[in-house]
Amino acid sequence: MSLSKKKILIGMTGGIACYKIPYLVRALKKENAEVKIIMTKAATQFITPLTMETVSENSVAVDMFESKSYIATRHIDLSEWADVNLIAPATANCIGKIASGISDDLLTTVICATITDTIFSPAMNVHMWENKITQRNITLLKEVGYKFIEPTEGDMACNHYGVGRMPEPEDLYNELLNYFLKNKQSLSKKKSLKNKKILITAGPTREQIDPVRFISNNSSGKMGYALAEIALELGAEVTLISGPTKEIASPKIKLIQIKTTDDLLKAVKKEYKKTDCLIMAAAPADFTPVQTEKQKIKKIIKRWSFL
Ligand SMILES: Cc1cc2nc3c(=O)[nH]c(=O)nc-3n(C[C@H](O)[C@H](O)[C@H](O)COP(=O)(O)O)c2cc1C
Repeated sequence: MSLSKKKILIGMTGGIACYKIPYLVRALKKENAEVKIIMTKAATQFITPLTMETVSENSVAVDMFESKSYIATRHIDLSEWADVNLIAPATANCIGKIASGISDDLLTTVICATITDTIFSPAMNVHMWENKITQRNITLLKEVGYKFIEPTEGDMACNHYGVGRMPEPEDLYNELLNYFLKNKQSLSKKKSLKNKKILITAGPTREQIDPVRFISNNSSGKMGYALAEIALELGAEVTLISGPTKEIASPKIKLIQIKTTDDLLKAVKKEYKKTDCLIMAAAPADFTPVQTEKQKIKKIIKRWSFL
């Protein structure tokens, strides 16, 4: 299981544990995860948006009413973007506001608007953590489906000792990994395509002009490969007919590699009879030469005068 291409929205609130988040973001970026960050105003007192922008390679959102922003519904766009939201560190204040349905800044509004899972990683002084209202807010949030990474026990920045420390960046990273692993398992548990045979086409085709030149297009094949992986997850027997791409199919997918549009047609005709469903996600070339030369055609135009 990898976090590659996973979209992770991190909400940072005003606690000293903000200093741990750049390490987490760097680890996520190393795995090619996409990371967007929302900071509360209080969080920007602990670490600068510039630092977070640099490590996440994305602009950081802080203001609800950004005067320069031309995207009026940014809170909705952000709430629909992520595969998972992680609020880390999560202050007692932010937990309390979200538990009460308060949306008075960008982060709390995005969380109110999202239907994606949200994981809180609380970080606070031991007395704030043990405060009955904090505990009641957490119980309420858990009851309605929010997830929590439990804080650990240890020395605190405020010189107290007790429960309330946010786990280390590598622990948060592993929690995210576990989250996606569990989701993958629950997806494959559904197996709604069990006993179904699915045929999918993907990628471009190449029409050879001569042995070294061809007509093609920029299709990456990503769509067809992603469909094939999901169909496999859902229990289908998957055959993927693919033009030349950089994508790698799971070994459990029957991969038929083709080059030309004619190859594609022949492969589809052959496999089609055996399948329950055909999804055509390939991008066949729109043109083909009248004839393909067996020898490399000699160049006739001198493009570069210095040659
Ligand atoms: C130095 C300092 C450290 C703080 N650390 C925490 C903390 O770890 N957890 C917490 O819940 N509040 C902490 N606070 C208080 C919050 O910053 C404060 O409640 C703030 O209103 C939170 O705003 P936010 O939830 O919108 O980010 C700290 C305040 C200061 C001045």
